[in-house]
Amino acid sequence: MRHERQVELLQRVADSGDHFVGLHGSRSMVNPASAYTDPERHARELQVLFRDGPTLLGLSCEMPAPGDYLTTTLDGIPIAAVRQADGSVVALVNACRHRAAPLFTERTGSTGRSIVCGYHAWTYDTQGTLLARPLSAGAFDDVTIGCNLHRVAVAEKYGLIFVRAGSEQPIDVDEALGGAQDDLGAFGLGGYTHVETRTNEWDMNWKLILDTFTESYHIRTLHKNTLAPYFNSDCVIYEGFGRNFLSVGLRANVLDEVAKPQDEWSILPYGTIQYFLVPNALVVHQLDHVEVWRLEPLGVGRVRTHTSIFAPEPPDEKALRYWTKNLDLLLKVTGTEDFPTMERIYQAMASGAIPEVVYGRIEPPLVHFHTALDAALAAADA
Ligand code: FES
Ligand SMILES: [Fe+2]
Repeated sequence: MRHERQVELLQRVADSGDHFVGLHGSRSMVNPASAYTDPERHARELQVLFRDGPTLLGLSCEMPAPGDYLTTTLDGIPIAAVRQADGSVVALVNACRHRAAPLFTERTGSTGRSIVCGYHAWTYDTQGTLLARPLSAGAFDDVTIGCNLHRVAVAEKYGLIFVRAGSEQPIDVDEALGGAQDDLGAFGLGGYTHVETRTNEWDMNWKLILDTFTESYHIRTLHKNTLAPYFNSDCVIYEGFGRNFLSVGLRANVLDEVAKPQDEWSILPYGTIQYFLVPNALVVHQLDHVEVWRLEPLGVGRVRTHTSIFAPEPPDEKALRYWTKNLDLLLKVTGTEDFPTMERIYQAMASGAIPEVVYGRIEPPLVHFHTALDAALAAADA
């Protein structure tokens, strides 16, 4: 992150006054529980945000070489992006044109120069053009439909890859980032190395996963024995970028840094810099690495999470052990403290007993997130 930008963010902390109240948002918000639990609203979100809208597929460094691929499922649509010989990326519907079997069954790997279906071995080039139907002389001669793979829109910039699952309508990455590209571009994500991704599933609405990370207000209580001794529970630094937003969680001792001369300021040892790329991703810049959370809603009350860790350089064995421990700890705290609570929250909301939830001025990213979602759905309806 650029130094001027770090100073700008830390200056807000320095200016925030007693109990950091200067970092509070301008208003609170009441959100109906149905925003999380209503199946019709959920179907609308899938259509507008996950199918029609661009979503983050992953980082460029997850598929660096020609033939490398990355897969995902968005509103049920299986997608695979494949790196071409010229370095560009093509995104395809990950379903064979014979009888719709998956062409790729892993999240990532290399397909080489062709894509071979695992069911009857129909073979395509990396752009999805059908090359051969092995051992089928005459068997498909009278087929008149096109049998190339279906393509969807994909775009790559700043080390990020976006896809649009529902169509080939081009994606403008800058527009998708809504202004966050100045910071994200400075992260230098293209130079990172993918270390590991772990996948889990949870019984809650997808938005609750993102809600988990938006605010620090819960650290003092929910993470009393784990994070609370080290992290500030009174505020986050918040900024909106279109529907995306930044929420920086701070170390408990951040005021030590702002007591120094300004040209020595660095936010990196004191801040967890979290970029929420709505609807499906969270890119977190930590002092010495990057974490990415990606979501795949599986139903109104079920979500799959992919948690990835990226290192600034290819890890040796010692570094690998360090990153594995880091990921263990992240998934332990979220998996035993945050997400079980979120699952209970979802149950309470789904029961109908709690008609609404409240986001306070101490939780400005929540107000931003849910206001932006309402606006996106209203705009699509209009
Ligand atoms: S479904 Fe792919 S070759 Fe038959
Ligand atoms: Fe938490």
